[in-house]
Amino acid sequence: MAKYNVRVITGAQWGDEGKGKVTHFMAKKADAVARFAGGCNAGHTIIFDGRKYKLHHLPSGIFMENCINILGNGMVIDPIILDGEITSLEQSGFSAKNLKISDRAHIIMPYHRCIDSKQETNRQGSKLGTTGRGIGPVYTDKASRTGIRAADLLDPVLLKEKIEFHLREKSALLSESGLTADSILEQILPIAAKLKPGITDTSLILHNLMKEGKNILLEGAQGALLDIDFGTYPYVTSSSAISGGAPSGTGLPPWSISTIVGIVKAYTTRIGTGPFPTELADDTGKRLLETGAEYGTTTGRPRRCGWLDLPLLAFASRINGLTDIALTKLDVLTGINPLKIAVKYKIDGIETDNFPADSRMVDKCEPVYAQLEGWQEDISGCKSKSELPENARKYIEFIEKNLEIPVSLISVGADHDQTIIVHPEKILF
Ligand code: GDP
Ligand code: IMO
Ligand code: MG
Repeated sequence: MAKYNVRVITGAQWGDEGKGKVTHFMAKKADAVARFAGGCNAGHTIIFDGRKYKLHHLPSGIFMENCINILGNGMVIDPIILDGEITSLEQSGFSAKNLKISDRAHIIMPYHRCIDSKQETNRQGSKLGTTGRGIGPVYTDKASRTGIRAADLLDPVLLKEKIEFHLREKSALLSESGLTADSILEQILPIAAKLKPGITDTSLILHNLMKEGKNILLEGAQGALLDIDFGTYPYVTSSSAISGGAPSGTGLPPWSISTIVGIVKAYTTRIGTGPFPTELADDTGKRLLETGAEYGTTTGRPRRCGWLDLPLLAFASRINGLTDIALTKLDVLTGINPLKIAVKYKIDGIETDNFPADSRMVDKCEPVYAQLEGWQEDISGCKSKSELPENARKYIEFIEKNLEIPVSLISVGADHDQTIIVHPEKILF
């Protein structure tokens, strides 16, 4: 029995694995849910009681009345978008009264969004396909040690000086933007005043909750293959999306974490540019796109779809230290026969089961597939693993055997209730 009840939820592929759904499910008895990386490039979908919610900054515990929801120091926050999210949450009858924002989190300013789009235009043939939310530019300022942090929002004089510095420094990229320090302050200051009561040292809140043995979920954004260090660089985001980003992005000690749940979509998707060994350009790819409704939660772009990729997942498991898998969207595979799972790659004719560091090598990976029998039955109403068709169970067991990690949760539909818990002690507090 672990001494502390801190669990990490992290995407094991290229994002959009269903982190929002699973976090919301696991948060039933959580005392706190903290996001630790990324910003409003994330789009986490939650469906319950017949309604759909899309979260970008807000942690997926925001619907739980007494749960503290934290935007951790590893995040980057766009106050204008956050303000809109809070308003729409309130319009849906929920409250952000328990929302806390790390005073160390960096702030996305309108100029970061302009620069993101300008940089993409300048990349011409080698665009990254970013979400356009200013993520790269804001993390650049953080690393350059000139960033504006949430605490700075509370000091209008200092804030103005910092904004003027950035507009001067970045003027070459902002010439057509029409942005001035005054126009930015006019937008930001009223929002800063609203957010002020929640801006605090969230690492202290989390530390105290941890010591009291409270239930804490650390919710990742993006996925292992979008991680700044381990992803398919340069086709990655700019933050530490893996489990190691959870302690550094919240201030909780690494040893407080007992469980690391990797969210794995039953097939693979990717949005934006970059290598994708198991991508399908055929009718099966189209079928996954349509049946899985694979359109970006943040940008609406269609997601690229392909077969499940075990070398990729073994790599994701290794760098994350996954203890459990939550397998999502299994229902989308219903009716596809046969099903394929990549078990190795061939690079220039040589077999490997290692995921290469160099994106040019990933591009060269030709998957070697295992073929499994599909199933025809509708599984979206199944409530236990034993109710699943035998071939669906075999699909799950194939993953478990190859990765040597238990599948502790199976998701068979987008709704909260379409969830099978296999190992309750790992999933429910
Ligand atoms: P996240 O970014 O990891 O939170 O994932 P997204 O919300 O961006 O994308 C996952 C999509 O799949 C959303 O539209 C969810 O509503 C949906 N979804 C989640 N789990 C399941 C599932 O088991 N089956 C189906 N059909 N849809 C699911
Ligand atoms: P969630 O949390 C899927 C992708 C973008 C682009 C690359 C860099 O919903 O899983 P950025 O705007 O971060 O500079 O874009 O990363 N990307 C995501 N793809 N899900 C996400 O978040 C993503 N966040 C960023 O499409 O390829
Ligand atoms: Mg998403």
